[in-house]
Amino acid sequence: MVPRRLIVGNWKMNPGSLTLAKRLLGRIRRRAEKLRRTELIICPPALFLPLFGRSNSITLGAQDVSFHHDGAHTGEISPAMFRSLGVEYSIIGHSERRESGDTDEIVAQKLAAALEYRLRPILCVGERERDQSGVYLKVIRAQIESALQKIPKSELKLLVIAYEPVWAIGVRARGASTPEDFLEQSIYIRKILSTFTDTATALRVPVLYGGSVDAENAAPFLDKGKAHGLLVGRESLDIEEFGKILRSAEVL
Ligand code: PGA
Repeated sequence: MVPRRLIVGNWKMNPGSLTLAKRLLGRIRRRAEKLRRTELIICPPALFLPLFGRSNSITLGAQDVSFHHDGAHTGEISPAMFRSLGVEYSIIGHSERRESGDTDEIVAQKLAAALEYRLRPILCVGERERDQSGVYLKVIRAQIESALQKIPKSELKLLVIAYEPVWAIGVRARGASTPEDFLEQSIYIRKILSTFTDTATALRVPVLYGGSVDAENAAPFLDKGKAHGLLVGRESLDIEEFGKILRSAEVL
């Protein structure tokens, strides 16, 4: 069986109100119902999660998760709480969270907590800058190794990795990477993964591309770049553009 593509829509801190969130969801739902070969994962702000109900066409994801189980942790949301709302995935180690203080150690703790509750982690890795001497490769390796060091081998089949070079993410991005470059990085990532598990499992971990994905570059990343899927920020809020990205995932 050909594994389904994963398209992740990370709404970040958008849209600005409940009314707008309901409208956006209604539009996405209409497109999601037509998907046959693509798993659509929407990661809205946590307080909009109950709007989605239990839907067959949209899988729910969290944008972040606490590593605490319960107790006095103001503002945090535990993996068990997400699970009780039907959430199946959680982004972990997004560069915007790393900028707000998530160290490699915190990322590792979040990943372990998510797995304990069968919340599939979408571990984001990627360098801030691309240097000629290849230090950026060490950065990617260190991010993966520190996140996985305490994870039992048997749990790795739940893992998803998103390669997102920080310089390609968000409104201040220098633009997307290239499919050729992504292909190289994904081979490198799988090589690192194979030091944690057998080759077959390492090959099955979906590696997504993220950072300035749009309706134009989605197809080349999936096709030439052999990305298993995409992590989409801004364009997941524009239903016309996002619809085109979903169509690319369906046909390629
Ligand atoms: P972008 O965001 O698509 O807006 O660059 C990607 C991300 O933050 O994961």
